[in-house]
Amino acid sequence: MPLIAPSLLSADFLNLERDVDMINSSEADWFHLDVMDGRFVPNISFGLPVIAAVNRKATKTLDVHLMIVEPEKYIGEFARAGANYLSVHIEACPHLHRAIQMIHAEGMKAGVAINPHTPIATLEDVIADIDLVCMMSVNPGFGGQKFIPHTLKKIAQLKALIAATGSKALIEIDGGVTLDNAATIVQAGADVLVAGNTVFSAPDPAEMIQKLKSI
Ligand code: DX5
Ligand code: ZN
Repeated sequence: MPLIAPSLLSADFLNLERDVDMINSSEADWFHLDVMDGRFVPNISFGLPVIAAVNRKATKTLDVHLMIVEPEKYIGEFARAGANYLSVHIEACPHLHRAIQMIHAEGMKAGVAINPHTPIATLEDVIADIDLVCMMSVNPGFGGQKFIPHTLKKIAQLKALIAATGSKALIEIDGGVTLDNAATIVQAGADVLVAGNTVFSAPDPAEMIQKLKSI
């Protein structure tokens, strides 16, 4: 069974407490929190105060996905805001290994996020040191986009790299996950499914989480 991580990017920000409660009482495993800076990606979402507020209510793992330039500057602050997993983009980090060490030093699990065009081979020299790969299956920046089918091949490549190196990293697929493609994605090797639009545009979001969980 995959872990399900609903993305709060598609939540109703005017009723955030209601949506946090819904996830708490659902079969979801994690909260996925998308931080966007308008520089690494062409959109701005939310940041530290919102994550700290969610953390006061959330009873599940907070999985924070940074789509920002120079993420190293804020690692300590995201730890204090309550992040359990912190993912930085490989494309945003010239000193990726140091960023991973800093995330671990702050007591968090370290994730590396990777864009659809970035080869899996670029993860070779860090894969043994990380806890999560957040593999983008859309171009980051917006919820509700269409899954890029080429990503399926990359899941298999990543799975092989993880097996070859004895890495413990989980494979998380982020973007365009629906009830129609979830089973194929899990069969390809995904451990964690992020879902924003699919969950929050459903008439009954908790029921949709349950359906994704049991695909
Ligand atoms: C996209 C974000 C995703 C987004 C996924 O840049 O990283 O986490 O919320 O949304 P859906 O599931 O709607 O594609
Ligand atoms: Zn994300």
